Amino acid sequence: MAKRSFLERISDLTKITHRAAFSSVDKHISNLNFETRFSNMVTSRYTCRSFSDRKVNPAKIQKILEIAHIAPSAHDRQPIHVWAVTSDEALARIREVHKSYDAPAVFIVGANLSEAWVRSYDNKSSADTDAAVVTLHMVLEASDLGLGVVWISDFDPAKLADKFPETAGYEVTGLLAVGQPDEEAAPYELHHDPKPFEEFCTVL
Ligand SMILES: Cc1cc2nc3c(=O)[nH]c(=O)nc-3n(C[C@H](O)[C@H](O)[C@H](O)COP(=O)(O)O)c2cc1C
Repeated sequence: MAKRSFLERISDLTKITHRAAFSSVDKHISNLNFETRFSNMVTSRYTCRSFSDRKVNPAKIQKILEIAHIAPSAHDRQPIHVWAVTSDEALARIREVHKSYDAPAVFIVGANLSEAWVRSYDNKSSADTDAAVVTLHMVLEASDLGLGVVWISDFDPAKLADKFPETAGYEVTGLLAVGQPDEEAAPYELHHDPKPFEEFCTVL
């Protein structure tokens, strides 16, 4: 076997220690991210229904929209559109449809039914599911940004269509009101009270 130079051997050693060092850092970071950051964020999340009237930083609105934009959809049809209601004029309009707990920003999520994937076996449209995936992306991103969030389905769609002609061609599936939680903000009595784990899931 050809004699290897001192420099080549040192270079091999450096690569090995570099790999070892960084693989343990990667593992550490992924454990840290998974065990603490994400889990803590989803377990401490609650529906916020009490907001400060402070405007949401436009960079946060943008970040929530960007995270919504990358949500997956059935057959990658991407039938969802999101309208961010942040101006005083648009907020006044949304509050005529639903008070939205006077949140300083409200996202309107709509699905274009003609764009959504439809399962051939039973003609089930994926529109609602796709909309829920986008909405949940926004809930989690807003929570991660330290904002309070409430998902609202209990609004009159006809009234919304009337006040927001911008949504023509879409079925509005939900509203997401976000803002800085105020001092009153706390989990409601309706806060998620999980049913027994064994009732919820089955390992087969
Ligand atoms: C699809 C969906 C629709 C909801 N609609 C409303 C609504 O119209 N008004 C409201 O105040 N909360 C609404 N919520 C919030 C739920 O009431 C809340 O998530 C649930 O009670 C669990 O509480 P938690 O989010 O604090 O864990 C909705 C939540 C989801 C996921």
